[in-house]
Amino acid sequence: MRPAARVGDAEDLRATPPGDEAVAAVRLVKLTARHLRGAAAVDQAVSARPWPVALLARELEDPQQRCYLAALAERGDRWSRAAVVGFGGVQQRPDSAHVTNLAVAPAWQGRGLGRRLLVALLDQVSARGWGPTTLEVRSANSAARRLYAGAGFHEAGRRPGYYTEPPDDAIIMWRPADDARAAPTARDDPGEARPC
Ligand SMILES: CC(C)(COP(=O)(O)OP(=O)(O)OC[C@H]1O[C@@H](n2cnc3c(N)ncnc32)[C@H](O)[C@@H]1OP(=O)(O)O)[C@@H](O)C(=O)NCCC(=O)NCCS
Repeated sequence: MRPAARVGDAEDLRATPPGDEAVAAVRLVKLTARHLRGAAAVDQAVSARPWPVALLARELEDPQQRCYLAALAERGDRWSRAAVVGFGGVQQRPDSAHVTNLAVAPAWQGRGLGRRLLVALLDQVSARGWGPTTLEVRSANSAARRLYAGAGFHEAGRRPGYYTEPPDDAIIMWRPADDARAAPTARDDPGEARPC
């Protein structure tokens, strides 16, 4: 088992990988105003075009049609100063739900947090009856494409040149509503689901 890293500010998010206990202790909570700067720091660490804090803040203004979750890691022994190490969101569209963002801090990637966030978001989609879920993903982003495929999304189309910096096509993915066979849901772990 690797020693646990201290986590906190954006620099820490790029530092030593966390220990297994630190990963297991990560909590998923509703993303609120107090997590905005931490979530934006995560996005800045992983995205070529990160969301500004103001954009993320606007997403929180409509909780009836949006659900955003934050993955929080304990900082030292103080949950009151927990660090955001990942976040994701989904919004309601007329006949479907749309995954708007999903990001895990570099040092925390590959440890199951992206899957936990996605499963919890899909559980909220299901609980709210928002129907099937769609998203766009860079064609070059094989990690995300595998994550989504493993959660029951299938590739339904391509938008050539959709992304810039660097240029890339978007792969459009869809997941049917209430596909209980696609992946375990957060309901399997009552400690995981957090209402938005
Ligand atoms: C995509 C992202 C959210 C995944 O989060 P994560 O915590 O690293 O993913 P997990 O550890 O939960 O892995 C879940 C699945 O994703 C896929 N995956 C994750 N990292 C991968 C990698 N480096 N290569 C290939 N597949 C990978 C695998 O299918 C994995 O399941 P498996 O371990 O059973 O094979 C994370 O890599 C990230 O933040 N990337 C940058 C931002 C981004 O691309 N967001 C998606 C925008 S559409």
